[in-house]
Amino acid sequence: MTADLFECVADIQPSREAMAEGAVLLRGFARPVEADLIAGIDEIAAQAPFRHMVTPGGHRMSVAMTNCGNAGWVTDRSGYRYDSVDPESRQAWPAMPPSFGALAGQAADAAGVDGFSPDACLVNRYQPGARMSLHQDKDEHDFGAPIVSVSLGLSAVFLFGGPQRSDKPRRFRLQHGDVVVWGGPSRLFFHGVAPLADGGHALLGRQRINLTFRKAR
Ligand code: SIN
Ligand code: FE2
Repeated sequence: MTADLFECVADIQPSREAMAEGAVLLRGFARPVEADLIAGIDEIAAQAPFRHMVTPGGHRMSVAMTNCGNAGWVTDRSGYRYDSVDPESRQAWPAMPPSFGALAGQAADAAGVDGFSPDACLVNRYQPGARMSLHQDKDEHDFGAPIVSVSLGLSAVFLFGGPQRSDKPRRFRLQHGDVVVWGGPSRLFFHGVAPLADGGHALLGRQRINLTFRKAR
């Protein structure tokens, strides 16, 4: 009986792991709102479908992307930037569902950052084999605000390095519902995602979805 109770509490109590100074992994933090997030992603993708964007160097990204919020991250041959409209439709990006912004604010709070109010949410879809090479998030106006990153679906290995591209990244397995917050001294740390292994997730099937919340402007 007591053991059952403990297991149950461990299931619903998100744990907190320090990754670096200013970076924290909140295990399972998004689980309580998973249904809202998945419904929101479906609505966003119906208005602004996932697409494989092209880098300024001409490479098609293996991760398919869309956005919600006032600003959406885009890349094409002319560079990386935030745009208030979807270049495919010339329409504004779908509004950020209230549950998305609320979760991002609560996760930042839990990581010790007050008042995080994102205006951009990049939605990344990884199918088996998709990866994201090491990069810095540096297209935002103000590096004072953290990055809040929510993982859903298949688990992936998140690579979290340091301020130099050559810093050896540490590997963190991110599972459905995990949230990573990085800011302050690690705001500009290099990070990426190893190629997604094949598998099947009970709610999302053969994919991983990542929501990356930012204060872009
Ligand atoms: C990103 O850096 O934009 C994505 C990170 C992730 O998919 O976990
Ligand atoms: Fe990133």
